[in-house]
Amino acid sequence: MSAAAVHASAPRRAVALAAAALAAVPAGSAFAQASPDDQAEAERFVADLMERMTLREKIGQLNLLTSSMDVTGPTLREGYRESVAAGDVGAIFNAYGADYTRSLQTLAVEETRLGIPLLFGYDVVHGFRTIFPIPLAEAASWDLEAIERSARVAATEAAAAGLHWTFAPMVDIARDPRWGRIAEGAGEDPWLGARIAAARVHGFQGDDLAGLDTVLACAKHFAAYGAAQAGRDYHTVDISLRTLWEVYLPPFEAAAGAGVATFMTAFNELNGVPATASRYLLTDVLQQHWGFEGFTVSDYTAVNELVPHGYARDEAHAAALALHAGVHMDMQGETFVTWLPELVRRGEVSEAAIDDAVRRILAMKYRLGLFDDPYRYSDAGREAAVTYADEHLEAARDVARRSLVLLKNDGVLPLADEDVSIALIGPLADSEEDMIGSWSAAGERRDRPVSVLEGVQERVGDDVTVHHAPGTSDMLGESGRQGFSAAIAAAARADVIVAVMGEPWDMTGEAASRATLDLPGAQPQLLMALHRLGKPIVLVLMSGRPLTIEWAHENVDAILMAWYPGTEGGHAVADVLFGDYNPSGKLPVTFPRAVGQVPIHYDVKPTGRPYDPQGPEQKYRSRYLDLPNTPLYPFGYGLSYTRFRYSDLALDRTELEPDDSLTVTVRVENTGDRDGEEIVQLYLRDEVASVTRPVRQLRGFRRVRLDAGAAETVEFELTVADLAFYRRDMSFGAEAGEFTVFVGGSSADTLGARFRLTADVSLRPPPPLPWPP
Ligand code: NOJ
Repeated sequence: MSAAAVHASAPRRAVALAAAALAAVPAGSAFAQASPDDQAEAERFVADLMERMTLREKIGQLNLLTSSMDVTGPTLREGYRESVAAGDVGAIFNAYGADYTRSLQTLAVEETRLGIPLLFGYDVVHGFRTIFPIPLAEAASWDLEAIERSARVAATEAAAAGLHWTFAPMVDIARDPRWGRIAEGAGEDPWLGARIAAARVHGFQGDDLAGLDTVLACAKHFAAYGAAQAGRDYHTVDISLRTLWEVYLPPFEAAAGAGVATFMTAFNELNGVPATASRYLLTDVLQQHWGFEGFTVSDYTAVNELVPHGYARDEAHAAALALHAGVHMDMQGETFVTWLPELVRRGEVSEAAIDDAVRRILAMKYRLGLFDDPYRYSDAGREAAVTYADEHLEAARDVARRSLVLLKNDGVLPLADEDVSIALIGPLADSEEDMIGSWSAAGERRDRPVSVLEGVQERVGDDVTVHHAPGTSDMLGESGRQGFSAAIAAAARADVIVAVMGEPWDMTGEAASRATLDLPGAQPQLLMALHRLGKPIVLVLMSGRPLTIEWAHENVDAILMAWYPGTEGGHAVADVLFGDYNPSGKLPVTFPRAVGQVPIHYDVKPTGRPYDPQGPEQKYRSRYLDLPNTPLYPFGYGLSYTRFRYSDLALDRTELEPDDSLTVTVRVENTGDRDGEEIVQLYLRDEVASVTRPVRQLRGFRRVRLDAGAAETVEFELTVADLAFYRRDMSFGAEAGEFTVFVGGSSADTLGARFRLTADVSLRPPPPLPWPP
């Protein structure tokens, strides 16, 4: 049958639906977003198509191969085009562009017996062409609308270039900055991470997967990838079930709740079972407990890697284990396409499991509208119109400004924009390629990104002299001192030094773990040499992870965390340096003083011997001999060019009945002389419980804009759901007793008030627990 046969055989929109057919559609099916009529029609269409598919054609749908256009993993396979034409491929990744995807799609539609269209996936993580700040930076905005907008812009550009599916959002909680992939997520906090996960899913997918400004999203990496031992990528994860449920799963659950279309497995093993073979994660939790009806994809050759993990005897065994666990599509490893036919013949894999996977994948193709028009996303006209559209660049600049975090300011910022001269020093000061960070999809590294130097020069025009010198070209070794003298000479001529330093872009992301967190290369020496000039120094820090910058904190006058701010980054940094935008970002991740403190996060447990530097006799306390326990900058921290004072924290009751809600109010006053925005944060502590609770946990935040001198009473409402946790028996509920509420501008603020919950409340039974646990 020709390709046309699939399309012609489906006058689907015209089908009159019998009531019986409607009743047959299960609630929460893979077609769930469609209307009931459309659902029934879609299910019938897919069932009809599957009736006509051979086993080989079905297995082909489970095969995802990379094109040769981009490389995001260790192996590259020649001849993928031939495999497409043979019907052995259901999806392609790392191929984009309207024309190129159209040419590949033609192979699938015209050459294969049934003409089933391909699905095109890509890592569209923080922008497609117009690159937004890296995800960790966006999280620092605490601005869910801005984050959603960023994802929608990415989807709009990607969808016009033929893409249907992004491998994002990455929702791994990360508490160890040695792990390079901390840059890709929303930081350390499960509660904030869950909200950002949902915002990103909604941004990518919108309300209609058939929309030409949306793509399928993919929650990854399921699960607990961020807990890699010692921060080393792909390393073992061994954590308690409680930690899994309390810390690592909430953003995945939120993504599933937001209707994410796909999940990607993680490379790591979790408590002895590789995640890609974990039936517990992929079936018991994801499909049965959360009711996920989309499809799952392995990470890149993760099925094959079950062999070196020591979990599968060979790749055939690996394919059987992964399919049985609940993996529906094999990324790049070709274990399914190679081994499933034989495994079915040998009776080691059921055809029903293959059918389930195929049905889920075809359902997504249907929802994207690919059976109506397989080329609808590969539209060169639309691609030209939306790529780097003005409103996309404006949005990127706006999100970038919101994501910058002012870590220190003794008053040197904002810079005056007249009668001064500025020295812009450092290897990242004029580096376009570093602005867009890792996983920057099809974003161009040259010409398009605005460097800090370009942004500053554009801002100051001819009014200010800007002396630029990179100082060192070597960000990896310590040999790059040749440029020091030119940099010192440039700095000596200026009134203020802006040092733009940090990590080159490829020092974070996948396979980019570090054992140290210092400014790399000769940069610390360069900064010290600049400091000896005795001039005011602003450090603009670019990196995808917290760095240990205690010396800089002690010695420079201001520090602005710029992360990798994206295509418009240089404009955004200039907006903040000159005070056109008053910074409001807050850290979504703790900055340690030294690498020896990691993993470090604000929501630690109290310990039996808590350390109190003010208390008497502190020897036998939980502490370090050589450093304070406290971080350099805590979670939630970030300064503004104005100041905010918190007072009058009040609760409308001190006894909370289970059905009531508690209103928390606090007065926030802008006591400075500039208008500004503050992210007001609310944390909770459960004082005594059946299992120990963290010293505090984020349970709310509000963004308030206050004119200079203005004050506002900010209100939060808490219910028992906010007090609930996985109790001793892993049921989810709240326990009667004392709670403390903290409100402030960071996780270290101490303004607090107490209340009591009068009775225990059960909200949910325990989640499925694996055996052995
Ligand atoms: C491996 C990475 O772990 C994953 O995040 C990414 O989506 C795939 N490669 C595809 O590039």
